[in-house]
Amino acid sequence: MTERIILQVDGINHAIDADPAMPLLYALRDDLGLNNPRFGCGLGQCGACTVHVDGVPTRSCSLPVSEVKGGKITTLAGLGTEAAPNKLQLAFIEEQATQCGYCINGWLMTATAFAARQAARD
Ligand code: FES
Repeated sequence: MTERIILQVDGINHAIDADPAMPLLYALRDDLGLNNPRFGCGLGQCGACTVHVDGVPTRSCSLPVSEVKGGKITTLAGLGTEAAPNKLQLAFIEEQATQCGYCINGWLMTATAFAARQAARD
């Protein structure tokens, strides 16, 4: 059974009809066509699927889409653009830290949340 679910992703509201138990990752990739969060382990361990939900790094592969209703989802595309990357994205580019690039989404989403948390402490 599906239900209508509204997701706010990178500041834009989207309506999808989905099984409430479906992982958020599938909604982002398959319903909204966003390819930054990636499927890696599917077990909440590798981080390739990480997005921010209300600013908290969250493994989207293991979070049912119904649990984020009303939450603000930020993807890698919401952190910065190719023309205007955020400081960490720029550092990764300058240091050529992406290697194969498959897990870069998880690194940047997690590191950005960490940096924001540290800045709030200072
Ligand atoms: S795909 Fe590995 S943590 Fe989600």
